[in-house]
Amino acid sequence: MSERPNLLDPAVKANPYPLYERLRREAPVCQVDPRGMWLLTRYEEVQYALKHPELFSSAGLGQALKVDWLGRPHPLASGMSFADPPRHGRLRGLVQQAFTPAALASLEPFVRSVVEPLVTNLLEARRVDFIQAFCMPLASSVIGQLLGLDTFLFKRVKRWAEDVAAMSNVTPRDTARQAQVRTSVEELRAYLEEVIDARRHQPRQDTVSELVHARVDGEGLSQEELFSFLFLLLVAGMETTVVLLGNAMRLLRERPELFARMRADIGRVPRFIEEVLRYEPPVLGPLRVTTQEVELAGARIPAGSLVMAVVASALRDERYVPDGERFDPERDGLSQLAFGHGIHFCLGAPLARLEARVALEVLLTRCAGLGGRSEDIVWSPALAMRGPAVLPIELLPADQGA
Ligand code: HEM
Repeated sequence: MSERPNLLDPAVKANPYPLYERLRREAPVCQVDPRGMWLLTRYEEVQYALKHPELFSSAGLGQALKVDWLGRPHPLASGMSFADPPRHGRLRGLVQQAFTPAALASLEPFVRSVVEPLVTNLLEARRVDFIQAFCMPLASSVIGQLLGLDTFLFKRVKRWAEDVAAMSNVTPRDTARQAQVRTSVEELRAYLEEVIDARRHQPRQDTVSELVHARVDGEGLSQEELFSFLFLLLVAGMETTVVLLGNAMRLLRERPELFARMRADIGRVPRFIEEVLRYEPPVLGPLRVTTQEVELAGARIPAGSLVMAVVASALRDERYVPDGERFDPERDGLSQLAFGHGIHFCLGAPLARLEARVALEVLLTRCAGLGGRSEDIVWSPALAMRGPAVLPIELLPADQGA
């Protein structure tokens, strides 16, 4: 590789897949900018890193992603996404009690009650930015519900989530943005503190009550661990779901025949979602920090390096996925890596799938066709995410369509 690739290069941001393909061929373990991060781009090495937390640590991320200007530890520092075994197992065991697939599935009526009026609004407006008009309000309402926030706060959830997620991108000189993020973090802590205290004294049938009262061997979550987990829900569950919905809609809009086929057979929706997750996974790759020097695919990664296990590349790896660069909604069973692998496998995967399924079922039933231009898409600036931040779209109501 002649020159170090930069992930923030606008051409790479607009489409990272040609770079990944070249790296898989020429340098499957390779150092890039920014931060001199190491990328793993082949399925084999990605899976290996995610399976070996003793070499590729999540606990190291608290220090590697530390934000000095915040004035307190990273909000995720005490949570399970920044923890290794055995601490990770204890935290995950506690949280899992409130996060069972059955508990998440029981959210379906709520999700539907949010989706229906949003689709009505879209069809009335006809031309919308799908991200602002649909994905954001849906994802923030669901997270707001999970966090036990009052409905009137759901709109704030969006800003909090944006600010918390932006933390790692704020430059040292941008003091105005830093102040805004600090305010959001403090505000969010204050609200969560209120919710936690309220549920401690008066439990309800909700996730926060279950988290507050969860016990393993008589031990529960500390206040800091509770905060970190609730912050994590916001960061891990909001933008990812927004981006999944945006990617699904963009891919459908570009394929009118597929749109028509799916309208005629709504049962195809779950498989379509799996292929969207494989072809355009919202999280490009989980991050890790090496605990010692690691030799992998002929390269030596020094101890203490920041590493991205690029699942987006692994899911198109020609050694693993036949014809991986082609979007094929008839494909089956390859998408799992989009939610990570090993001990940190996404806890919210059933919820993300549920939101996407209900959204597409309602949209396909009530909308006869989609318009809009690919040139108008603005891509998310986040380093580890891939999806539209702005997706202008035109919707044709079913009763006026074909
Ligand atoms: C399409 C949507 C989503 C995608 C693509 C996604 C992806 C991921 C990935 C790749 C990881 C592994 C991170 C790592 O290995 O470091 C992860 C972890 C996690 N996700 Fe998701 N996620 C999504 C939605 C959600 C939702 C809706 C929630 C909750 C409401 C959620 C909660 C979590 C949690 C709590 C973890 C940490 C698990 C652990 O560290 O043990 N995710 N997610």
